Amino acid sequence: MKHLLEQAGLAALRRIDPEQAHGLALKALKAGLAPCPGPVTSDRLRMTLAGLDLPSPVGLAAGFDKNAEAIAPLSLAGFGFIEVGAATPQPQPGNPRPRLFRLTEDAAAINRFGFNNQGMEAIASRLANRPSGIPVGLNLGANKTSPDRAADFAEVMQRIREVVDFATVNVSSPNTEKLRDLQGPAALAALLDGVMQVRGSTPVFLKIAPDLTSSEIADIATVARNSGVDAIIATNTTLSRDGLRSRHKDQAGGLSGQPLFDRSTRVLAQLSTQTDIPLIGVGGIGSAEQAYAKICAGASAVQLYTALVYGGLSLVTRIAEGLDQLLARDGFANVTDAVGSRKKDWL
Ligand SMILES: Cc1cc2nc3c(=O)[nH]c(=O)nc-3n(C[C@H](O)[C@H](O)[C@H](O)COP(=O)(O)O)c2cc1C
Repeated sequence: MKHLLEQAGLAALRRIDPEQAHGLALKALKAGLAPCPGPVTSDRLRMTLAGLDLPSPVGLAAGFDKNAEAIAPLSLAGFGFIEVGAATPQPQPGNPRPRLFRLTEDAAAINRFGFNNQGMEAIASRLANRPSGIPVGLNLGANKTSPDRAADFAEVMQRIREVVDFATVNVSSPNTEKLRDLQGPAALAALLDGVMQVRGSTPVFLKIAPDLTSSEIADIATVARNSGVDAIIATNTTLSRDGLRSRHKDQAGGLSGQPLFDRSTRVLAQLSTQTDIPLIGVGGIGSAEQAYAKICAGASAVQLYTALVYGGLSLVTRIAEGLDQLLARDGFANVTDAVGSRKKDWL
């Protein structure tokens, strides 16, 4: 019954403008109208990632709760960890609307939000008052008009380090012009150096794009290792538009959802051959089988966003429980034992 109600709600939301629908979904969450089963966990799912204890490896990807408004209900939605943001030093409006498009036939989305957010002060004060529970991280971004974008990352890091369990350096959003140039080895090393100097004891993750060559991936692995990054998140949205059918397929922005699955999993598997740093797999996960495939390709944990638009938050519990069953089926005592067990399939 609950599931039917959720499906009816999702169908109604899909008839209105996607950004408005997202705002309503967040309001419903805050009003307690969403599923709140609490984190799914088991001996097989429990794990440690970069020193953080996770009840399960299934997390919420950045961008769903940009302003950290719904941490309490999201913590109870079934995730093992959540990432909010991106936060920039100053508040900024982002790109003009419309800037979020549903590609229903492709089970995908295109967004060109451009780091719309209320700024690090507002976001930090919400994070400071969050309930205890699962680990919560913040995605760090840079202001569009900043004269020194690398310094923006360090500034947000310094401001929020006491109120988060981890922070993610996001140099992979396609929606802020030239941001991804910061993925180049020299620029990335300098940026990470600035962030690491002010992080205190907070774990720092690095999030990369899916549109990288093998040698770019190898360079990033080297820089990440030298900088002491605690985990790498692969990947953000793609600029590729291969094989899409929906009428919005030519909109500018980053593509997420099903069509990103293979591309992001290949980047993940390649990265796992280049580094021992724990990896978080994200991109196109919509089922337990796909979460499991990312883990077998080299991810210690996973995140998702776009599939929630189509499947609702109850999907989180289904994925975590399904993952537990798949691990049991294949004889793994815990998720960590399965990490990278089939990476060759993706190389
Ligand atoms: C509307 C929207 C906003 C996003 N905003 C951010 C963001 O602020 N920072 C970030 O690192 N990733 C952001 N992402 C990317 C997601 O975190 C994720 O990497 C990507 O969507 C691929 O996962 P998915 O296919 O499960 O959605 C956003 C994605 C979407 C769809």
